[in-house]
Amino acid sequence: MTDYRQGFDDLTREIHEPELPVDGDWPDWLSGTLIRNGPAQFSVGDQDYRHWFDGHAMLHAFRMDNGTVSYRNRFLETKSRTEALAAGEIVRSEFATDPCRSLFGRVMSVFNPTPTDNASINVARLDDQYVAMTETPLPVAFDPETLNTVGVVDYDDDVDAQMTTAHPHVEPDTGTIFTYQTAFGRQSEYQICSLPSDRAKRTVRASLDVARPSYMHSFGMTEQYVILSEWPLVVDPLDLLLRGQPFIENFEWMPERGTRFRILRKADGAEVATCTADAAFAFHHVNAFEQDGEIACDIVTYPDASIIDELYLDNLRGEKPSPGTGSLRRYQLPLEGGRAPSHVLSEETLELPRLHEASARAQPYNIVYGIGTRHEGNFADQLVKIDVESEEAQTWHAGGTYPGEPVFVPRPDATAEDDGVLLSVVLDPADDHSFLLVLDAATFAERARATVPHAIPFGFHGQFFE
Ligand SMILES: [Fe+2]
Repeated sequence: MTDYRQGFDDLTREIHEPELPVDGDWPDWLSGTLIRNGPAQFSVGDQDYRHWFDGHAMLHAFRMDNGTVSYRNRFLETKSRTEALAAGEIVRSEFATDPCRSLFGRVMSVFNPTPTDNASINVARLDDQYVAMTETPLPVAFDPETLNTVGVVDYDDDVDAQMTTAHPHVEPDTGTIFTYQTAFGRQSEYQICSLPSDRAKRTVRASLDVARPSYMHSFGMTEQYVILSEWPLVVDPLDLLLRGQPFIENFEWMPERGTRFRILRKADGAEVATCTADAAFAFHHVNAFEQDGEIACDIVTYPDASIIDELYLDNLRGEKPSPGTGSLRRYQLPLEGGRAPSHVLSEETLELPRLHEASARAQPYNIVYGIGTRHEGNFADQLVKIDVESEEAQTWHAGGTYPGEPVFVPRPDATAEDDGVLLSVVLDPADDHSFLLVLDAATFAERARATVPHAIPFGFHGQFFE
């Protein structure tokens, strides 16, 4: 086993390589840019960020054209980063790291909160802008060519919320973006918001009062419905104000609550049903679709929320890493509400799930891709393809390497759901670099790889833009 821990080292070098060396049969039809996001600096001065989700966001762009591929990487120049570099210490509160503050400073920060804009989780196109996103509603716009930071997007509305998801859904027919937000207050609420494809203006389509909001990294959407999956990791909003703990450490695991699926109709915002299931936790919804009076809702689940603890950097850099992968589980949510049965679709574990967006999203479908764990006790060390109908799986690995989220790109004029390639940034610690892997999505055989001149820290999500 090679040392995966290189994936949690800082990368502070910013470079542009006009043409990466390529081995193999690079598809000549592959034209566009893969932009990936993830943390790349885990300390400032002599202070360390505590969690994988806390490091400073860095963008990586692979531009592909006529069989060649270029590479560029840049930090996102957020206020969170620039203030910290100027001060020589951590300034803004992150997911699991708080700056050192006196009681006075803590009280002042309650009245003058400076939420993080360290948008390290995902990227998207919003309006005519490319944005990096995290779980505060402060998307950061950037130039897709230079990766220069433009700045926090100023929403053209007066919607007020403190927490959101970095995994919005796009309605296939209209391009309308749907997201969910949580507004903390004397009466906290979940809000379902929509944004037209051409304007950064949120409209609240539905709101639900909630006493103890759940930590929900993503949500589900079908043609007609939005599904909020309330895992029993919940917070008393007063604790966010008064306890002075890093954000996520205010949330409590309350398994006696079980899991509640709140189903809302997109058309009028009405809550049509609540379904219940045993306690579980998840980051990622995979897909959801309507069928025979119920919603099939596929989610990468964990038995509890201890996966969040496993992803603290001290644990990831320790002797017993988390595999960082969960189980692909299908919940069957009756549209009249009630108990939701579920079952695990594959013995292969999975994370960072991806689909053929245009053909599979919100439809009956077959194929999920993701990272997985081949060797027990290792960090995620393989790519996985699961057929949710046959429940069969295929895997790809290359000894001693660690692949990241596989992004599916369909071949032009493809008809089959898996006719295309997967793009995954793979860490090769033995050779002290990463490479961009091109995997045939149908056969799961390697087609080509392009070598990057440095090791890229483990990231989260990316998108392919044509
Ligand atoms: Fe995510």
